[in-house]
Amino acid sequence: MNNKINIVLIGFMGCGKTTIGNRLAYKLKYSFIDSDKRIEEEAGISISQIFDTYGEDYFRSLETDIIKKISKVDKQVIATGGGIIKNEQNIIELKKKGIILYLNATAEHIYNNLKNDNSRPLLQVEDKQAEIASILKQRAPLYEKYADIIIDVTDHSVNTTVEGIMMNLGGKCL
Ligand code: S3P
Repeated sequence: MNNKINIVLIGFMGCGKTTIGNRLAYKLKYSFIDSDKRIEEEAGISISQIFDTYGEDYFRSLETDIIKKISKVDKQVIATGGGIIKNEQNIIELKKKGIILYLNATAEHIYNNLKNDNSRPLLQVEDKQAEIASILKQRAPLYEKYADIIIDVTDHSVNTTVEGIMMNLGGKCL
């Protein structure tokens, strides 16, 4: 039996993991889990408040705890936070039951999606566009390294992307 029965979406902030994940879960009749949302529910405060009050390291420890928990459940589409690849342990847990899909977007696409968004603590800087390009440059090799499948989302509608993912998955999940 195929034990890869979760679909895990990784990728930069603003690449569409939550929107695409929700739609994909609906199509596959899987449940949908957003790791950031789960962290907020368990902490009782927003991601921004966690960063402001306790710092990034504390957020990363919460993130790793949540990933460990949600990786154990079957038949889910899991949308992860963009920094999930900073700790390899997260990927090891997610890969136990999951196929890792990297939603690849250009820095321009990401900037367009996030230029009016103030909910990402790492992007509360003067030059958001430059910050996106700089963090993406550091992280892209990790997203690529951990991905089982890479899906290009730049200039594609959510529908087209989801159809592309379904085709790519083929017989890879139940
Ligand atoms: C982060 C991405 C965010 C959230 C936090 C840190 C990151 O999630 O986990 O703000 O380090 O890239 P999204 O990718 O859903 O924005």
